Amino acid sequence: MKNSTNPQSFDQIVRNVFAPIYPVIAEQIVDKTAITSGRCLDVGCGTGALGIALANITDLHISFFDQSEEMLNLASGYAAAHNLQDRSAFIRGDIHAIPLIDEDVHLVISRGSSPFWEDWHKAYSEIIRVLKPGGMAYVGGGFGNAKLRDSIVQTMSEKNPDWRNSFKDRIKPERDALPGILASLRPAHFNIIDDESGFWAVITK
Ligand SMILES: C[S@@+](CC[C@H](N)C(=O)[O-])C[C@H]1O[C@@H](n2cnc3c(N)ncnc32)[C@H](O)[C@@H]1O
Repeated sequence: MKNSTNPQSFDQIVRNVFAPIYPVIAEQIVDKTAITSGRCLDVGCGTGALGIALANITDLHISFFDQSEEMLNLASGYAAAHNLQDRSAFIRGDIHAIPLIDEDVHLVISRGSSPFWEDWHKAYSEIIRVLKPGGMAYVGGGFGNAKLRDSIVQTMSEKNPDWRNSFKDRIKPERDALPGILASLRPAHFNIIDDESGFWAVITK
């Protein structure tokens, strides 16, 4: 398994540093997908911040999905604090074998998890498998916009001077491989966003 994320320290970072990015990314997801109702799977949800931000501006039901039980416990606490008990579920598992039936969800979202996946071809084929026909995925990583990104890079670099380089190293292999992988999986449509919002694959089944 690729080196993963420590739940307690990640929770601190999300609350103290990353918090403002999630509402911005949630707006971008609605803008690019126009999916605001039905079932959404947040893959590698961590503490649930993106799924919660998206639930706050849509009618989506969010299934928070992560391999880490501790992350899911944190996500469950935050979802309850946002009164999302009736619009949330918590699923433990691995992206390479998503424990959902085919064509189950309208939208898959994922932020900051894909660098940890062992096999992108398998992972993205699983994402496409669980999408309903016409469903969409918004998968990748980023900090929303240039202003937020620059301020986060500065804050994180003060904590760890090598943070920016390790972060760049982590995303490069996927950036190189993804266009070929997605072409081989033949979804109805895909495009890659690579701009100040981050690096995102937008896929339509
Ligand atoms: C950096 S965190 C991102 C969390 C959250 N999406 C966010 O943006 O705040 C990466 C998450 O991906 C999860 N993860 C890594 N590999 C996974 C896999 N193979 N299957 C499911 N979850 C995975 C980790 O447990 C961790 O919670």
